[in-house]
Amino acid sequence: MRIEKGTARTVFIFPSLNIALKIAMFNLSSTKKLLIRIIKSGQIKKRLRDEFFLFTCDSKGTLKKYLLRGITENLNEYIFYVRHRKKLPIQPTYISLFGICNIVKIASPLRLSDEAWRMWWSNIVNIIGCTIIKDPHIFEKSENFSREGDALMFLDYGSKKTQAILRTHGKKFFNFYKNTGA
Ligand SMILES: Nc1ncnc2c1ncn2[C@@H]1O[C@H](COP(=O)(O)OP(=O)(O)O)[C@@H](O)[C@H]1O
Ligand SMILES: [Mg+2]
Repeated sequence: MRIEKGTARTVFIFPSLNIALKIAMFNLSSTKKLLIRIIKSGQIKKRLRDEFFLFTCDSKGTLKKYLLRGITENLNEYIFYVRHRKKLPIQPTYISLFGICNIVKIASPLRLSDEAWRMWWSNIVNIIGCTIIKDPHIFEKSENFSREGDALMFLDYGSKKTQAILRTHGKKFFNFYKNTGA
C-alpha cells in the first residue's frame, strides 16, 4: 500500500486490488486558528453563520472550506464521473461513501520534473487557451494526471473549475499524445 497526499484528499493506493481510496481531509490547524478569531470577535453566532452560508470567492479560507472541501470534492468527482464517464478522459470513480471516501480505479500518476511539466504547458495551453489560468491548481502538478493510450487522464476533477474546463475542452485530451507528440 502507498499513500499520496493531495490538497483536499489523502489517497491510499492498493496495487494488489487495483483500487485507490480517496479519503477527505480536514484542515484542523486552520480551523483552530479561525475558531479562535471568531470567538475573540464576540459575534460568534453571526460569524459562524457567515462562515457556512455567505457566498465567498474561492480563495478565501472559511470554516466550510477547511472542514468540507475534501468531502465536497469527493462528491463532485463521483457525480461528474457518473454523468460524463463515456465522454471525457476521467479516471473511474466506482463509488463515493458520503464523500468521506471515494473508491477509484488505480492509475500511475505522471511524475515529471517541474521543468519537464512546464514544457508540456504550451501543449496544454494550445488545447485550453488562456482560460487555463482559471484553474491553475489542477495543472500545477503532473501527478494530477496519468496516461492511458493516447489520452491524458484527469485524476483530480472534483473542483467546479476543473469540471468547467473538462466540459468545454475535455474531449481534446483523448488524443493529447497523438496530437501534441508529447
Ligand atoms: N486513481 C489514482 N491512482 C493512483 N494515484 C492517484 C489516483 N488518484 C489520485 N492519485 C494520487 O493522489 C494525489 C492526490 O489526489 P488528488 O485527486 O489530486 O487529490 P486532491 O484534490 O486532494 O489534490 C494525486 O496527485 C495522485 O498522485
Ligand atoms: Mg491534486
